Amino acid sequence: MLRIAFLISGTGTNLQYIINKINEKELNCVIKMVISDNPKAIGLTKANLQGIPSYVLDKNTYGENIGDEIIKVIKDKVDLIVLGGFLSILKGEILDIYKNKIINIHPSLIPKFCGKGMYGIKVHEAVLNSGDTITGCTLHFVSPDVDMGTIILQKSLNITGEESPKTLQEKVLKEEHRCLLEGIRLISEGKV
Ligand code: GRF
Repeated sequence: MLRIAFLISGTGTNLQYIINKINEKELNCVIKMVISDNPKAIGLTKANLQGIPSYVLDKNTYGENIGDEIIKVIKDKVDLIVLGGFLSILKGEILDIYKNKIINIHPSLIPKFCGKGMYGIKVHEAVLNSGDTITGCTLHFVSPDVDMGTIILQKSLNITGEESPKTLQEKVLKEEHRCLLEGIRLISEGKV
């Protein structure tokens, strides 16, 4: 059974969606731990309610070295690291040890609207300002170049022109959940 470390920084809607699908037997995986770089992440409560061990590695303490700390927590207990709403940039040895075993869900159709500083509502503001008529989300492997690792899956949706950045974020977030589920399922079945 695929063992997952789930990394968060905030609300944890991606985490909750995957927890639900595992509980509904739609995903044959186990979340061994949740790690947050934000001590105030609401997602930590979601982990605790589900009885999943959680760890806080405060980004203000570890900064760019957070990857080295994550290695210590994970040791050899997981097969896949899922960045689901995780904002710290991973650097260093972790990218080598877990090459093609770290995945990230990003709220745009990479290579558009991604890279350093492009996260959360800022992505959707940029998309709407661009006049694009299509957006979506991307599940990709994490590599040294931020948001530029090999793409696993993308899901797209049309922009009607009626959306605000907030309503667009909500529409894209639903697709992210589905994209993340499908990607983890494919990996758990050895199809990626
Ligand atoms: C989402 O908007 C997603 O694009 C990005 O992190 C944000 C929050 O995710 N990956 P979550 O609700 O904390 O799972």
